[in-house]
Amino acid sequence: MSIEHQGGPSAAASSVEPAKGKLGVMVVGLGAVATTMIAGVEAVRRGLAKPIGSLTQMGTIRLGKRTDNNSPLIKDFVPLADLNDIVFTGWDIFEDNVYEAAAHAAVLDKETLAKLRPHLEAIKPMPAVFDQHYVKRLNGTHVKQGKTKRELADQVIEDIRNFKKTVDRVVMIWAGSTEIFMEPSAVHQSIQNFEKGLVANDPGIAPSQIYAYAALSEGVPFANGAPNLTVDIPALVCLSKKNNAPICGKDFKTGQTFMKTVLAPAFKARMLGVHGWFSTNILGNRDGEVLDDPESFKTKEESKLGSLEYIFQPELYPDLYKDIYHKIRINYYPPRGDEKEAWDNIDIFGWLGYPMQVKVNFLCRDSILAAPIALDLVLFLDLAKRSSELRSLGIQEWLSFYLKSPQTAEGLYPEHDLFIQSMKLKNTLRHIMGEGLITHLGLEYYD
Ligand SMILES: NC(=O)c1ccc[n+]([C@@H]2O[C@H](COP(=O)([O-])OP(=O)(O)OC[C@H]3O[C@@H](n4cnc5c(N)ncnc54)[C@H](O)[C@@H]3O)[C@@H](O)[C@H]2O)c1
Repeated sequence: MSIEHQGGPSAAASSVEPAKGKLGVMVVGLGAVATTMIAGVEAVRRGLAKPIGSLTQMGTIRLGKRTDNNSPLIKDFVPLADLNDIVFTGWDIFEDNVYEAAAHAAVLDKETLAKLRPHLEAIKPMPAVFDQHYVKRLNGTHVKQGKTKRELADQVIEDIRNFKKTVDRVVMIWAGSTEIFMEPSAVHQSIQNFEKGLVANDPGIAPSQIYAYAALSEGVPFANGAPNLTVDIPALVCLSKKNNAPICGKDFKTGQTFMKTVLAPAFKARMLGVHGWFSTNILGNRDGEVLDDPESFKTKEESKLGSLEYIFQPELYPDLYKDIYHKIRINYYPPRGDEKEAWDNIDIFGWLGYPMQVKVNFLCRDSILAAPIALDLVLFLDLAKRSSELRSLGIQEWLSFYLKSPQTAEGLYPEHDLFIQSMKLKNTLRHIMGEGLITHLGLEYYD
């Protein structure tokens, strides 16, 4: 008989170590997203606010049959680090402490920041690995010096080792600026090539890759909130597997792409065609300023463009999606600060080809949407590192849910549909905990 709920692995096949002690979170780039996450975690710890938007903190997971009425909180079902056990540190090219950086970012109001001030002031960035060649619009002063990229990587490794002395486990997350568009080259093809490139100062190695290399060498999981190439190269995928240091895709899926990966699967599910999808944005934060540079914009554009192509599968549905005109614009508009506005005009067509339009106007807050995603990625990567089944896989495809550019094993197309991603994430949690998977078949209720 078919069942909606299938048995999982035996308890012996899979084990997850408990989240004992302190989780150290090393954040690269203490800008708008990072400071909103750090301040938010502290506000939640003090009972000043709720962790809205965070699946790890607020989400539930159904276990067993629908008639079992068993839907615990995710954080009660899988052993995640408690927010009270998180310790933050990080790097930035500016010396501002987290309070000053948060005040500059102006995402959270002054009253909230004032309440958190002593805690936030105590988090001071370490000098960064930075090179203006990779982020044209910034000019940092608080940077590490080294003759070679190898020396810089060693300095980051030293930072990680020092931090490890004060906490029990470490995860690193890139919340730094978007680097210029780069394509994989010979230096990225193997760990050996990459290590030679570090010594030879190969221009193919960007600062984000120096941090990632340092993390993965130390067995530290690494997440990438920006669309940079970073760990999306064979050398760092190999290092991730070799050292049991999980990685995932890139670029937080927060506003416009989040909406795209909800609407596009809906059109496809109903076999409605799409002629064109025009997306434009205005934003005025530092991220917007960096993206005003064409080379950084190209990195973001590639990341944002991918989702529709994969969701619509024009090769399977040429009558519906063969000739979509998909355009993305981002304009830097300082008055708007972090409060981005996004417009989408979607030209769809239905029965007998009759045209219709859908307009979406999303007045969002960039970092308010991104902060819980950054937190969840950190907590789930730490979980993956403690899971006997997940830690050696390298890429954690089940975290695609959070990312504009999911990373997959070679030869696999990425899954962009938010609801498939959500199901994959929850089934992965059920699987590692030895619970049955949910298939949504459900014939057994009618026997
Ligand atoms: N907010 C969102 O909705 C969202 C969504 C997807 C992706 N992102 C990406 O997340 C990243 C952070 O966004 P943000 O709004 O916080 O930007 P931000 O400009 O406020 O912060 C980035 C910080 O990184 C620092 N930095 C740059 N290069 C560095 C380096 N090599 N080492 C250490 N620090 C470095 C900058 O000084 C700055 O403080 C950006 O790349 C952005 O594109 C944001």
